[in-house]
Amino acid sequence: MLKKINETAEFLLGKTKCQPKAAIILGTGLGGLVDEIAIEQSISYADIPNFPISTVEGHAGRLIFGEIKGVKIVAMQGRFHYYEGYSMQEVTFPVRVMHQMGIKNLFVSNASGGLNPDFKVGDIMIISDHINMFGANPLIGKNLAELGPRFPDMSEPYSKKLISQALSIGEKNNISLKQGVYVGTSGPTFETPSEYKMFRILGADAVGMSTVPEIIVARHMDMPCFGISIITDSGVPGQIVEVSHEEVQKVAAAAEPKMTQVMKELVASL
Ligand code: HPA
Repeated sequence: MLKKINETAEFLLGKTKCQPKAAIILGTGLGGLVDEIAIEQSISYADIPNFPISTVEGHAGRLIFGEIKGVKIVAMQGRFHYYEGYSMQEVTFPVRVMHQMGIKNLFVSNASGGLNPDFKVGDIMIISDHINMFGANPLIGKNLAELGPRFPDMSEPYSKKLISQALSIGEKNNISLKQGVYVGTSGPTFETPSEYKMFRILGADAVGMSTVPEIIVARHMDMPCFGISIITDSGVPGQIVEVSHEEVQKVAAAAEPKMTQVMKELVASL
């Protein structure tokens, strides 16, 4: 595993002169940040050795190297989801590789269903903590001791420093930002009304099908993390309506400029 990770990291370092400071994983309908990147190089996942083979039809994902406001970054346009049938190790492989490339910070975005009754569809939530309800964990199996401990601490999964910086960016730019706990679940089904209710009782403010695996692996390697979620539909009793992937994409795309602004300024502050 470590051999493959290092092989891929070396391949990518050989392809680009860019030494990024941060990795950004772009979620559903949230690819617009790409327009803010001064792109130096873009590599299709299919051309990266050891990268999981994309099962998604149509446009395959790509890694984009470039700069945002003068800060070097690498962005993953398209992520691997557990519900697509990838193993947890495959889902998190790119995070391992980016860490081995010397990248210090991980930023992620996603779309989620709102559980907190104070949230509205279209709201932006900074992820303050998460609950792993995938029924799996990417660290199960032999520990990669060179990369992190057998029993990693998870007391600060999302960097308090980055959260407070993001909150002041929101204030300065008049962007209202909520904060809350993200519960990650395998999907691909959206929740039943009773499942939404259960996740709320468990202490979550939003529910989605990604992010948790990547954050676990990043924290295993002690990378500071930042996550932001767009509330694309409501799981609040009395507000639940039929939800589709198309609707999720539409709402995410509409809220995206504000999220992009926060991400951009936050990256610039690194
Ligand atoms: N549930 C799970 N994942 C999601 C949702 C949801 O309601 N909305 C967007 N991703």
